Amino acid sequence: SDQSEFDTDVWTLTRFIMETGRQAKGSTGELTQLINSMLTAIKAISSAVRKAGLVHLQGLAGSVNVTGDDVKKLDVLSNTLVINLLQASYSTCCLVSEENETLIVTPKEKRGKYVVCFDPLDGSSNIDCLASIGTIFAIYKRTSEGEPTVQDALQPGSKMVCAGYALYGSATLVALSTGAGLNFFMLDPAIGEFILTERNVKIKPKGKIYSLNEGYAKYFHPSINEYLNHKKYPEDGSAPYGARYVGSMVSDIHRTIAYGGIFMYPANEKSPKGKLRLLYECNPIAFLIEQAGGLATTGTQRILDVQPESLHQRVPFVVGSPADVAEYLSFVK
Ligand code: AHG
Ligand code: MN
Ligand code: MN
Ligand code: MN
Repeated sequence: SDQSEFDTDVWTLTRFIMETGRQAKGSTGELTQLINSMLTAIKAISSAVRKAGLVHLQGLAGSVNVTGDDVKKLDVLSNTLVINLLQASYSTCCLVSEENETLIVTPKEKRGKYVVCFDPLDGSSNIDCLASIGTIFAIYKRTSEGEPTVQDALQPGSKMVCAGYALYGSATLVALSTGAGLNFFMLDPAIGEFILTERNVKIKPKGKIYSLNEGYAKYFHPSINEYLNHKKYPEDGSAPYGARYVGSMVSDIHRTIAYGGIFMYPANEKSPKGKLRLLYECNPIAFLIEQAGGLATTGTQRILDVQPESLHQRVPFVVGSPADVAEYLSFVK
């Protein structure tokens, strides 16, 4: 049979990472090892999200399954997977996870030079309704010697060496950047590899979609509602924007990068700093969006310039097409 459509020189994410590692001066391969371990964790999470091995996953919503065994919730399982695989890569010194209150220090004999901040499962309120969820991570080089401390993890986003997210959507996709543009990789379940599907992704200068939880309008600053009104009732006769909000940030962000537009989780009276966390949600997404030519701001400052003060701090978050974010800023500044 004709196999001519079969790619015999396929660019897998593993190959892509090895190749970029080779090209980097003085590279030891440690970052390559780290990213490969993260990808293994992502593949395992993807499989669990798709309910593979259902026999072990019954009762995911609770802590006990029908046969009475303890079953780990999907976000706890994802967290354990990421921690174990990252520590086993011999390339990390400490980790920050949404699910762990304190810094996770890598056992001495397994330490390397990187710090990873991650959200093992983002959009976990969407687990039970089977909407898309994701994993987010940011990688930094440590700056100190000796025992790792919280300070190693409190680096501004501008110091990031690599960021990525996985989206467990109608397909599993990884968006990754090591600071030389943004690339998309799609999981081919047949070979268990991520295949490069879009190189050097760029966001549209201006989109047609706005995305936020508008149910909080009552608590927004009036200037935000003025901006939203402007999107719904444009004064210049142009078409109003479409509204989309999954409530799963990775989903909302991936759509924003793919189609253009703006995503917002601004401050409101009930959440004076917004909801999203700087270290493992806003910073990695801001890095990726900037790599695609977009903007990411708190409303008063570039996200990547914020000096972190604590592991789980929140910041107002507005990202997307450059013209849309600029327009938002013209209303709220
Ligand atoms: P997580 O599931 O990791 O705790 O994060 C959920 C976040 C994010 O994915 C989403 O954008 C936001 O929560 C939705 O919040 P609201 O329900 O307030 O809109
Ligand atoms: Mn999250
Ligand atoms: Mn989470
Ligand atoms: Mn959570």
